[in-house]
Amino acid sequence: MSGFPQPFSGKVALVTGAAGNIGLATANRLATMGADLVLLDLDPEKLEQARAALGEHDVRIHVHTCDVADSAQVHEVIDRVAAETGQIDFLFNNAGYQGAFAPVQDYPEADFTRVMHINVCGAFHVLKHVSRHMVARRYGRIVNTASMAGVQGPPNMAAYGASKFAIIGLTEVAAKDLAPYNIRVNAISPAFMGPGMMWDRQVALQARAGSQYFSSNPDEVARQMIGSIPMRRYGNIEEIPGVVAFLFGDDSSYMTGVNLPISGGI
Ligand SMILES: NC(=O)c1ccc[n+]([C@@H]2O[C@H](COP(=O)([O-])OP(=O)(O)OC[C@H]3O[C@@H](n4cnc5c(N)ncnc54)[C@H](O)[C@@H]3O)[C@@H](O)[C@H]2O)c1
Repeated sequence: MSGFPQPFSGKVALVTGAAGNIGLATANRLATMGADLVLLDLDPEKLEQARAALGEHDVRIHVHTCDVADSAQVHEVIDRVAAETGQIDFLFNNAGYQGAFAPVQDYPEADFTRVMHINVCGAFHVLKHVSRHMVARRYGRIVNTASMAGVQGPPNMAAYGASKFAIIGLTEVAAKDLAPYNIRVNAISPAFMGPGMMWDRQVALQARAGSQYFSSNPDEVARQMIGSIPMRRYGNIEEIPGVVAFLFGDDSSYMTGVNLPISGGI
């Protein structure tokens, strides 16, 4: 049992991409605050590891393997979750895929389609089917994971940038459609996150893709990226969950349709 106050005790939080970096860190924070968890991810093995990592919390944890890009599967899993838990109070709509890094004229079309299917159609499927249950209960809090790539299009990321602009649009529309039902819909937009693979991968891929904006030397790309951030450092994964918890909680009770950057000032 956590020594922290548990304002989310009695709530059920559904997290997609729950086996990944941001999903797992956020699930951990929500459990610390007392929420029961429903973890959805494409990867069953990582999902079981996530369940084990969260095992210290005295909350109920349900796990479901689900491909968010498959609308029929999402419909079936969400209905099963609602029957199992009786309620879905919070949705962290977070599963995502970054896609290839290449200039738009060379961008692989198959990858563009894949990114759109996961990031845009997937987020829509989950939002649609979860919100049907929330509408019935006249209660819900939804946070979509966008990105600063959906605020300022970065070079070499045509699919990802377009998909995250779409998430911010989807957030604004859903906030309007669902406001009459006491459902708030907001987005978060992380920028450069680290440490480890998450940071190293961005740097390596931008260096390899090549552009007039970044060097082809990864060490120099790292300096260029840090130099573009007013706070002059990348964000830590642990700087995200508290923002999601704020958007789920009562301290943000008059906020909907908002996109909050978590970006060190970019
Ligand atoms: N890490 C960053 O720097 C950063 C910055 C801005 C935004 N984001 C966004 O944050 C979210 C989480 O990213 P992360 O950094 O934790 O990445 P991650 O790769 O660690 O986690 C993503 C998770 O989503 C799951 N997933 C992928 N496709 C899926 C599908 N079709 N159905 C269900 N699950 C699927 C993966 O299995 C993985 O567990 C993504 O939407 C990403 O675009 C990340």
